[in-house]
Amino acid sequence: MLYIHSIMKPSVKTVDFLVIGGGVAGLRAAIELAPKGSVLVLTKDKVTESSTGYAQGGVAVALSDEDEVGIHNEDTIKAGDGLCRENAVRILVEEGPGLILELISWGAEFDKEGSKLSFTMEAAHSRRRILHSHGDATGREIERVLINKVRSFNSVSRYDYAFTLDLIIEGGRCVGATVLRGHALINIFAKAVVLATGGAGQVFSRTTNPTIATGDGIAIAYRAGALISDMEFIQFHPTTLYSPAAPQFLLSEAMRGEGAVLKNIQGKRFMPEYHEMAELAPRDAVTRAIVSEMVKTNSRHVYLDLTHLDKDFVENRFPLIYATCLQYDIDITEDMIPVSPAAHYIMGGVKTDTEGETNIKGLFAAGEVACTGVHGANRLASNSLLEGLVYGARTGKKAIRYVEEEKTDAAASEVSHDGFNDESHVISPLDIEKTRSALRQIMWNKVGIIRCDESLSIARKWLDKKHSITDIQFHDRRGFELKNILTVANLITDSALLRKGSVGAHYRSDFKNRGEHWQRHTACLKGKAAEWME
Ligand code: FAD
Ligand code: SIN
Repeated sequence: MLYIHSIMKPSVKTVDFLVIGGGVAGLRAAIELAPKGSVLVLTKDKVTESSTGYAQGGVAVALSDEDEVGIHNEDTIKAGDGLCRENAVRILVEEGPGLILELISWGAEFDKEGSKLSFTMEAAHSRRRILHSHGDATGREIERVLINKVRSFNSVSRYDYAFTLDLIIEGGRCVGATVLRGHALINIFAKAVVLATGGAGQVFSRTTNPTIATGDGIAIAYRAGALISDMEFIQFHPTTLYSPAAPQFLLSEAMRGEGAVLKNIQGKRFMPEYHEMAELAPRDAVTRAIVSEMVKTNSRHVYLDLTHLDKDFVENRFPLIYATCLQYDIDITEDMIPVSPAAHYIMGGVKTDTEGETNIKGLFAAGEVACTGVHGANRLASNSLLEGLVYGARTGKKAIRYVEEEKTDAAASEVSHDGFNDESHVISPLDIEKTRSALRQIMWNKVGIIRCDESLSIARKWLDKKHSITDIQFHDRRGFELKNILTVANLITDSALLRKGSVGAHYRSDFKNRGEHWQRHTACLKGKAAEWME
């Protein structure tokens, strides 16, 4: 048993801007902030451990000769299934090309055909508009360039392995965060705080997301009083490697974009029966079709088949995927790949306007943690790296204006989080792991791809029994992550129960139509039940 009884007084640090998260959104925000003051970027692991670093398929941008910003706009809105906030989409597609060209001017190398940029196809895009790098390692390239750019500013420093526990709120404003760095607790005060902590895939037992994606930003913002929106919309990626020996490694949608097809375990291609766009239908449609085939054939997977494509092309176009599958004895040029869906992306999050502003003064959010409404009920493939760039930069700009206009300072002051002085709770590391595992399975089985009142209510009851965990004052990363995963699981379940209808990635087998309030958004605020908002 681990008794929580250490009384640890935090040290104090002040900076002008605190950026929590070192993925595409946090790094891009930091670059914007750098000329205006001292910036501290926090990451909870090594800096390369982010969803950004694992992104494969690419970044969607209307830069090819056959494409137009207006068409990218339409495709995004169509995939979002009626729930995109249209001004947010317009900003994304209009500002995206400039941000990508800027990234190229900072040294980003995207794959080319001859002297021209090479664009690939992904689901629900009506043009080839996905830029990629080193075949299928686009995120790594974007991250490399942003990290180097950030390093070029003396004003920016980074604390890696610095786990943010909570935000510091004073007089209704966010003035900093309490952070665990190694065994040291630090209260970091800032004139403005940018939350860029990424997604929450780890809430589910099957996910493409790295281990850092435990929804911390959503949970800590919620605890601080931020408005959280659209949490029922979880995107399940259709194709991750299904093998008992392998992790749920992503098999990029770009593979289907280049001609790969889906077959059931009897070897029959099925997507044309489900959707006119077949393998390139929106992700939610492909995912549900796969589930339906798995049920029909009583199987735990279907197959992704590229064996009809040229061997050299496949090896060169998808080198990371090719090499990774070989480690599990699958030669993707010769063998069909067993695949099944996994939780991939959260469309909901901390509600912001199109400048990253939340309902808490001094608190801004960008990237996957935020909900600008740009993705509606279902994100268009490869729009999120672009979102991180566009909204990371916009959020940085707005944080600067906030500080200038409000003349905030970063003075250290009395804060509520004055250390780990709570001796009342007892929880063992083993119990943390057991609860975490059970929770992730409940979420996958009962709040996953297909939901209904019965399954959601089972999850609700289970979560209620564990509610006391959200009050525990943990003092290590795993414990705090459990608390955050539980909080996010509650928000997803409540929002999914409220939306009695099927829209985009939220599918209710008991309400297959859109339902009464479908054009409204769900909202969660601490101390209140989930409710509707415009
Ligand atoms: P992340 O890149 O996840 O960064 C989050 C940061 O926050 C990390 O630095 C982390 O350490 C830090 N952090 C988290 N919690 C804390 C805490 N408590 N304290 C301190 N720091 C914290 N999108 C595309 O557009 N194209 C693709 O091809 C693509 N492929 C993908 C492939 C995979 C396998 C995955 C998982 C996602 C993919 N996505 C893709 C989605 C996309 O990568 C993410 O949505 C995007 O990178 C999120 O960026 P971000 O900056 O918001 O968060
Ligand atoms: C993929 O490569 O399939 C992932 C793209 C994305 O999630 O946007």
